[in-house]
Amino acid sequence: MKALILVGGYGTRLRPLTLSTPKPLVDFCNKPILLHQLEALVKKAGVNHVILAVSYMSEMLEKEMKEQELRLGIRISLSHEQEPLGTAGPLALARELLTENSDPFFVLNSDIICDFPFAAMAQFHQHHGQEGTIVVTKVEEPSKYGVVVSEADTGRIHRFVEKPQVFVSNKINAGMYIFSPSVLQRIQLQPTSIEKEIFPVMAKQGQLYAMELPGFWMDIGQPKDFLTGMCLFLQSLRQTQPERLYSGPGIVGNVLVDPSARIGQNCIIGPNVSLGPGVVVEDGVCIKRCTVLRGAHIRSHSWLDSCIVGWSSRVGQWVRMENVTVLGEDVIVGDELYLNGASVLPHKSIGESVPEPRIIM
Ligand code: GTP
Repeated sequence: MKALILVGGYGTRLRPLTLSTPKPLVDFCNKPILLHQLEALVKKAGVNHVILAVSYMSEMLEKEMKEQELRLGIRISLSHEQEPLGTAGPLALARELLTENSDPFFVLNSDIICDFPFAAMAQFHQHHGQEGTIVVTKVEEPSKYGVVVSEADTGRIHRFVEKPQVFVSNKINAGMYIFSPSVLQRIQLQPTSIEKEIFPVMAKQGQLYAMELPGFWMDIGQPKDFLTGMCLFLQSLRQTQPERLYSGPGIVGNVLVDPSARIGQNCIIGPNVSLGPGVVVEDGVCIKRCTVLRGAHIRSHSWLDSCIVGWSSRVGQWVRMENVTVLGEDVIVGDELYLNGASVLPHKSIGESVPEPRIIM
């Protein structure tokens, strides 16, 4: 089977991380977001050819994907857009690759995390026999989203309603699809939104079905949700692969630590922390609900809550950082500072506290 992954967005909402790394290569729980998806496609659905629809920072992706081709033993093709083609146009651009055989193919947004149900999707799609299947997930406040209204017993989609003011459904599009190749006849080679321009027509013609996702799901395309997604992912690891979580003195709850990371004396790490390769945490540090990316260094007695520390950044001694503070790559935070909801661009040095949420350029 084949899969096309949409990796061509600018990822503006995940800045400052995406100023130095394309969103699909940002590490989520110590693995690039895209690798979570690639590995699941291979393992769960036997996918052997993945097409990446790229337009932005494609050199880094190309290099990384050469390595993954060898490691996973699959074919990875890059389909380059001259201009962003939205969420449907890239399918038209990759038409030849997608129709090398008549099998259905997967299409994924690159910034979602869940227990990917690829085998179940393939089965469900084959069972209803129509052109498309989209995975849906339940949300608590449907009025904030576009919701999917479908038949309870078959999953056949009737319509989509944007931000409903009265309850019609609590299911939203989870950004994972499986299509029969005939769907390509509906898509022109031009910027097109699959959600707004293609799906409503397919639904009207009875060609689109919804499969409900069991378990957790998160769109991790912005820092706040990235951290929530990390908590959900670590909780699911606790249930399915507890051996991957770290334990030891001062470790609280679900914590992921790369074997090459070093933690000093008298630290409290957790709950919900992920420490990447080469990370150094000095003595007396307290970290909860944070992602610390590869090569970052946290000096002694600092206190971090709900932060993302970018690659190779350095946080001084006795620093307090909280409220979704995000440090881009290679940021230096001086000693004894307070950062509250700061978003710091790559390669900056900070010498003053940031008491209110703001972007530091
Ligand atoms: P923001 O700038 O933060 O909104 O992120 P984004 O650009 O990634 O947009 P969004 O999260 O809405 O995109 C959903 C998915 O579609 C992501 O996987 C994007 O990479 C992808 N995507 C969005 N626009 C394009 C495009 O023009 N071309 C391709 N190939 N993928 C796209």
